[in-house]
Amino acid sequence: MIRTERLVLRPAREDDLEAIHRILSDGRAMRYWSSLPHSDQDETRAWLGSMIGGERNGNSDFIVELEGEVIGKAGCYQLPEIGYILHPEHWGKGYATEAMRAVIAHIFASFPIPALRADIDPRNQTSIRLLERLGFTLSGRASRTWQIGDEWCDSVYYELKRPRG
Ligand SMILES: CC(C)(COP(=O)(O)OP(=O)(O)OC[C@H]1O[C@@H](n2cnc3c(N)ncnc32)[C@H](O)[C@@H]1OP(=O)(O)O)[C@@H](O)C(=O)NCCC(=O)NCCS
Repeated sequence: MIRTERLVLRPAREDDLEAIHRILSDGRAMRYWSSLPHSDQDETRAWLGSMIGGERNGNSDFIVELEGEVIGKAGCYQLPEIGYILHPEHWGKGYATEAMRAVIAHIFASFPIPALRADIDPRNQTSIRLLERLGFTLSGRASRTWQIGDEWCDSVYYELKRPRG
């Protein structure tokens, strides 16, 4: 578990289902995600199950809590790829920056990886702003990398090298 000034970052649990489903079924939060918004709880149950059963749960991938309420997730489902999502009610307050700063420091301290990477839809400007705030830089682009529903989406790749010293 990691505590930041305002947040608790902890492993995912089965009783997070309802709160996580509220996020993963929200069209605003899921606009540039790697799948369509979840249409039923079973889809979220499977998603949560793979986070809980995955080897990254609680060591590089975390549920984000604000005053006891689950507001999102931040971290690497698979090293070195980072991913994050917060419920839109909690955007614009710096929570993603705060969570990711702590997660990044923890990951570099725990795993000998040379860099973290992000694969982002180039239209996802809020996410790109977040990555740049965290020190990530653009490392590449590719076209038609994801088919989400009927839509083909592109990728921009961002990278954060392990800090020296
Ligand atoms: C990406 C995402 C987490 C960013 O959320 P966010 O709220 O914009 O990011 P932060 O929590 O860092 O907040 C930054 C904003 O809060 C403001 N802010 C307010 N108080 C702040 C504080 N104490 N510290 C830092 N920023 C603060 C900043 O000015 C900034 O506002 P701006 O976007 O108008 O410039 C959110 O948009 C999201 O969940 N998107 C959907 C999921 C997704 O697309 N994920 C990416 C694919 S992995």
